[in-house]
Amino acid sequence: MKQYYTQNTHFFGNTSPEALLRDYGSPLYVYNEAILRQRCRQMRDLVGYKPFWADYSCKANTNLSLLRIVHEEGLHADAMSPGEIYTLLAAGFAPEEILYVCNNVSAEEMAFAVERGVLVSVDSLAQLELYGAHFPGSSVAVRLNPGVGVGHHDKVITAGKLTKFGINEEYIPQIKETAAHHNLRIVGLNQHLGSLFMEETLFMRGVDAMLALCLQFPNLDFVDLGGGFGIPYKKQDGQAPLDLAPIYDKLTAVMERFAQDYGKRITFRIEPGRFLVAECGVLLGRVHSIKENAGITFVGTDIGFNVLQRPIMYDSHHDIEVYHQDHLVTGGPAKVVTVVGNICESGDKLAHDRELPPICQGDILGVMDAGAYGYSMASNYNHRLRPAEVLIDLEGHPRLIRRRDTLEDLLRGFTER
Ligand code: LLP
Repeated sequence: MKQYYTQNTHFFGNTSPEALLRDYGSPLYVYNEAILRQRCRQMRDLVGYKPFWADYSCKANTNLSLLRIVHEEGLHADAMSPGEIYTLLAAGFAPEEILYVCNNVSAEEMAFAVERGVLVSVDSLAQLELYGAHFPGSSVAVRLNPGVGVGHHDKVITAGKLTKFGINEEYIPQIKETAAHHNLRIVGLNQHLGSLFMEETLFMRGVDAMLALCLQFPNLDFVDLGGGFGIPYKKQDGQAPLDLAPIYDKLTAVMERFAQDYGKRITFRIEPGRFLVAECGVLLGRVHSIKENAGITFVGTDIGFNVLQRPIMYDSHHDIEVYHQDHLVTGGPAKVVTVVGNICESGDKLAHDRELPPICQGDILGVMDAGAYGYSMASNYNHRLRPAEVLIDLEGHPRLIRRRDTLEDLLRGFTER
């Protein structure tokens, strides 16, 4: 039997898709606070080893209200840009709770972090040299490439032979030379193998490879093992969630062994993004047109790829629910359709050849698991307005947490009128 996520999780609380679009417009990102908090706790308690920090990788979703909740749950954060650092500080994260995991940045960007007390992790010898020249005698972290990568798509595999990230093992002597030359203290090492694994084998292989390298650095305060913890995007087909139990056992054992071998209980950190926010988000949109072309049924919606890029960028699958006059449609003759948006490109497809329950013009579609890399990758392409974001709070009430763009927003920043 098909699973209906929003029904199973009582996702919309006291409200409904129809009421939400009436009050906040369409399309609309909707988040569920209870699910977000639960995911935070799962990551915070991922291992038995202490000290352990789960750093939220906020590139997945930088909504200020969500960041505050993540912080309340006791998580720290990693940032990928000065803008993310700025936003994390505004959300209440302390500088020492933030790691700036940067890639190919200027000395000015490094200074942005350093001046605010945020530790920088550099990921090439050239960046280490640049950092050392500008901030001699300070602390720094270094991103290593353990030679093992994972990910749901080539575009998001961030370690292994073929990526731009991290410093490979053979350059460790140069890392040490450069650090010594500028009197830098390497206090942390980090890695990120890639985004989305549903089974721990490769991740654990990467952890083992990483920790073998870490033993070569004598003054570490922390080792950060990265993110990538996956979520099941095909729940309607019965896909199971990532099983955290074996990760708990294996990772805790590996961490304890490392602490013994290293002779110090360093802090272990991870950097999950998707796992924390993907499943707390549903994207709602309206069906405005249904037509047949050459035997294909196109369901035309207001969910263009400016709103959700993942399907066109990575061929990603998102489960879709249909709501007809406020009722979740679970029965009726299913039909194979292609769901498209309102952007002027033929690639603007949310789902192709998807079997969905009967859909009428005016119905609402819910795109599941849209909380990670949804709004954060949305744009104003075609000068469309980015949607509003609403949070269903713990009492089940909706709260606007970011307003929809306005037409005036589209003209903001132009220097001549
Ligand atoms: N740490 C670093 C250094 C990263 O580059 C990333 C993600 C993460 C942590 C968090 O990874 P996660 O736990 O979310 O898998 N836009 C793509 C995903 C790009 C991930 C980029 N880096 C998508 O929509 O699937």
